[in-house]
Amino acid sequence: MLWSRAWKALALVAGLAPTSDAITYSPLKPPSYPLAVRSPYLSAWIPGNEVASISNNNAQFWAGNKLIWSVIARVDGVAYNLFGVAVPPSGTQSATVTAATYTSTHSTFTLTAGSREFTLDFFSPVSPKNYLRQSLPFSYLTVTLAAGDASSVQIYSDIDASWTGQTSDSSWSYSTSGSTGVFQIEAVGTATYSQNSDGQALWGSAVYATRPANSSSLSTASGPSLAVRKTFVNSGKLTGNHADWISTGVVGFAHDLGATAAESTVTFAIGHVREQSINFFDQAQTGYYRATYSDTVDAVVHFLDDYDDANAESTQFDDLIQDTGTSSHGSNYSDILALSVRQVYGGIEVTIPNDSLDTSDTRAFIKEISSDGNINTVDVIYAAFPIFYILSPEIIKLLIAPVFEYMGTSAYTKSYAVHEIGANYPNATGHPSDGEEMPIEESGNVIFLTYAYQAATGNTDLATTYSVQLKQYADYLYENGLYPASQLSLNDALGELANQTNLAVKAAVGLATYGALVGQSNYTTAGKEFADKIWTDRLGTDEDGTRFLIQYGITPWFLVYNHYPDLLFGLNAFPDEAYIVTAEFYPTVRSEAGVPLDGSIGWGQTNWQSFVAATVSGDTRDLLISDLHTYVSNGLNSAPFCDRYWVEDSGSYSAGQEYSFRARPTLGSHFALAALSAGNTWSS
Ligand SMILES: *[C@@H]1O[C@H](CO)[C@@H](O)[C@H](O)[C@H]1NC(C)=O
Ligand SMILES: *[C@@H]1O[C@H](CO)[C@@H](O)[C@H](O)[C@H]1NC(C)=O
Ligand SMILES: *[C@@H]1O[C@H](CO)[C@@H](O)[C@H](O)[C@H]1NC(C)=O
Ligand SMILES: *[C@@H]1O[C@H](CO)[C@@H](O)[C@H](O)[C@H]1NC(C)=O
Ligand SMILES: *[C@@H]1O[C@H](CO)[C@@H](O)[C@H](O)[C@H]1NC(C)=O
Ligand SMILES: *[C@@H]1O[C@H](CO)[C@@H](O)[C@H](O)[C@H]1NC(C)=O
Repeated sequence: MLWSRAWKALALVAGLAPTSDAITYSPLKPPSYPLAVRSPYLSAWIPGNEVASISNNNAQFWAGNKLIWSVIARVDGVAYNLFGVAVPPSGTQSATVTAATYTSTHSTFTLTAGSREFTLDFFSPVSPKNYLRQSLPFSYLTVTLAAGDASSVQIYSDIDASWTGQTSDSSWSYSTSGSTGVFQIEAVGTATYSQNSDGQALWGSAVYATRPANSSSLSTASGPSLAVRKTFVNSGKLTGNHADWISTGVVGFAHDLGATAAESTVTFAIGHVREQSINFFDQAQTGYYRATYSDTVDAVVHFLDDYDDANAESTQFDDLIQDTGTSSHGSNYSDILALSVRQVYGGIEVTIPNDSLDTSDTRAFIKEISSDGNINTVDVIYAAFPIFYILSPEIIKLLIAPVFEYMGTSAYTKSYAVHEIGANYPNATGHPSDGEEMPIEESGNVIFLTYAYQAATGNTDLATTYSVQLKQYADYLYENGLYPASQLSLNDALGELANQTNLAVKAAVGLATYGALVGQSNYTTAGKEFADKIWTDRLGTDEDGTRFLIQYGITPWFLVYNHYPDLLFGLNAFPDEAYIVTAEFYPTVRSEAGVPLDGSIGWGQTNWQSFVAATVSGDTRDLLISDLHTYVSNGLNSAPFCDRYWVEDSGSYSAGQEYSFRARPTLGSHFALAALSAGNTWSS
């Protein structure tokens, strides 16, 4: 008691926020809130457990390293730290957080500072069909001063070189375009397309921009962090001095709103821009937006101009996700969907060739964030495809066409589909000879993805252009898929196994899908014959046909999910009984925090739990979604949505804790049920 009172007093003296129980988290407190999540290199988050003291806690890159990004507000001469001020300047106070919310596109925090209330609205647009808006490598931070007693208010914000991935040697510059002020910070002496050990881009530039709102006046400075912040704290404005870069330096903006009782807002744009964004077989690709805004300052000015339209779109988009989640499986499900969206689209870049800027030559690239950094991993696209099927099926084509392009060159000689087109994003320079091979896995996946695109859009161009390759992979499945040789599946943590039931299921459904794709019924029949052997003849099940096994004739059981496309595409390769019986089985092997991936391990995979939630119904579906909801809201985790977690206590982990992955764009899988219930109606 005494200790706690003393600690609180100390905390107040030091300017640290007292931990408050009075925060409203809606719809729940997630492991981590997306702040600016737009590309693999613009990926700023804050752990849910740090939000109570957001005034003193820093944003983090997806890998967990700190990003310096602060907001301070002055109300009648008293400075309140709102966000990211780890070392509060003397004389400042911490604002008190009262509410935290997230939607599909916004993370919003409400704070009280003296007599006034502020909200910080971190808005990362998701505009899946508008490639210009989607590809702009910026995110908005809007600070709103709520209407209240008339007071004199100034708002300050800064960033530093942590956004460039290299704090030891950088440079910065300031420029203006009309009333917009733009800072750019670049790492010095680093190679194009290179990353630091946290996965941050070392080439290109971090961008911070704003413009005066209404009649507010804007001042700027760059210089030592403490000095720049103190100037603001003391005077409410900045000097206009732009000192040379130093390692303790920040670039800062101050808005003076004057004496006001009205609601007022100021908006900042934060970004990370790379002119050459992807190395696609030595052909530099650049952001799609560069066809229209080839200059970075023009691009960020446009981004600020676009705020009202982007925000209006986001309101509709958020409602759409909410409604579809709720109508598919209630609000627990929509909570999960809303948290997943930015992480998926923030793992992707939409590009055009840097030389031609030809938008008819658009591609998309996805990074296998945190698990290995591969580029356009086919099974990552497979995991994510349900969200694209619903929202933007064209993106499936943009992602998978570069894979077909590569497989069509003499550099690729295998008879099965490739795992990815490069080990290290952004270098799409080909699959390394010692890279992962997943023959059945990826051969099935390219067929599913092609068909998903075609089914959702009605366009046959992908199947036509790559017809020879697709037939080759279908024939590969036919010849090798029923008794898969020892090989990896996408669950590579399980190692190479022979006769993997889930791979054979992939081959069966892959063949049926190919039959539907090209209208050749002999493939459909072949797929059905495989499925009959696996399920009806018990090749891949226990003797009584109550569960799928991991390998033919070998326990443990396995959470088989590769028949999801069978249901989505309405192919009926597997009999209904396979879904009904496994729906009865899975609840019997659920561990404390969920159903594991197989009967011998203590962890589960949210992607595949979500595919299975779509294929089963009733109580089992309820259980899978409810477990997922408990996992994201249990307060035990802090990483950007980790798609693998412990379902039971194991070593130093406890049930419900995340298991090493973070921020992977695979979370489109969470839309599997929505894709089945809602279909791809939104995409039209
Ligand atoms: C990409 O390739 C370039 C050389 O072309 C290299 O400097 C860079 O480090 C590579 N990037 C990664 C992430 O490995
Ligand atoms: C601009 O000022 C008007 C009048 O004071 C106010 O109603 C409005 O909310 C302000 N707009 C912004 C964006 O601050
Ligand atoms: C990309 O395009 C810009 C503008 O045309 C040009 O200056 C630059 O050299 C190009 N870079 C590459 C690698 O093609
Ligand atoms: C695969 O399963 C079949 C049928 O049970 C068996 O004959 C074959 O030996 C298995 N293959 C391997 C590599 O274990
Ligand atoms: C299906 O029929 C086509 C056309 O006759 C043939 O080329 C192909 O090999 C057959 N595939 C299978 C799996 O039977
Ligand atoms: C929603 O998820 C929570 C766990 O976070 C669970 O307790 C509750 O039963 C779920 N609600 C429904 C309707 O399934």
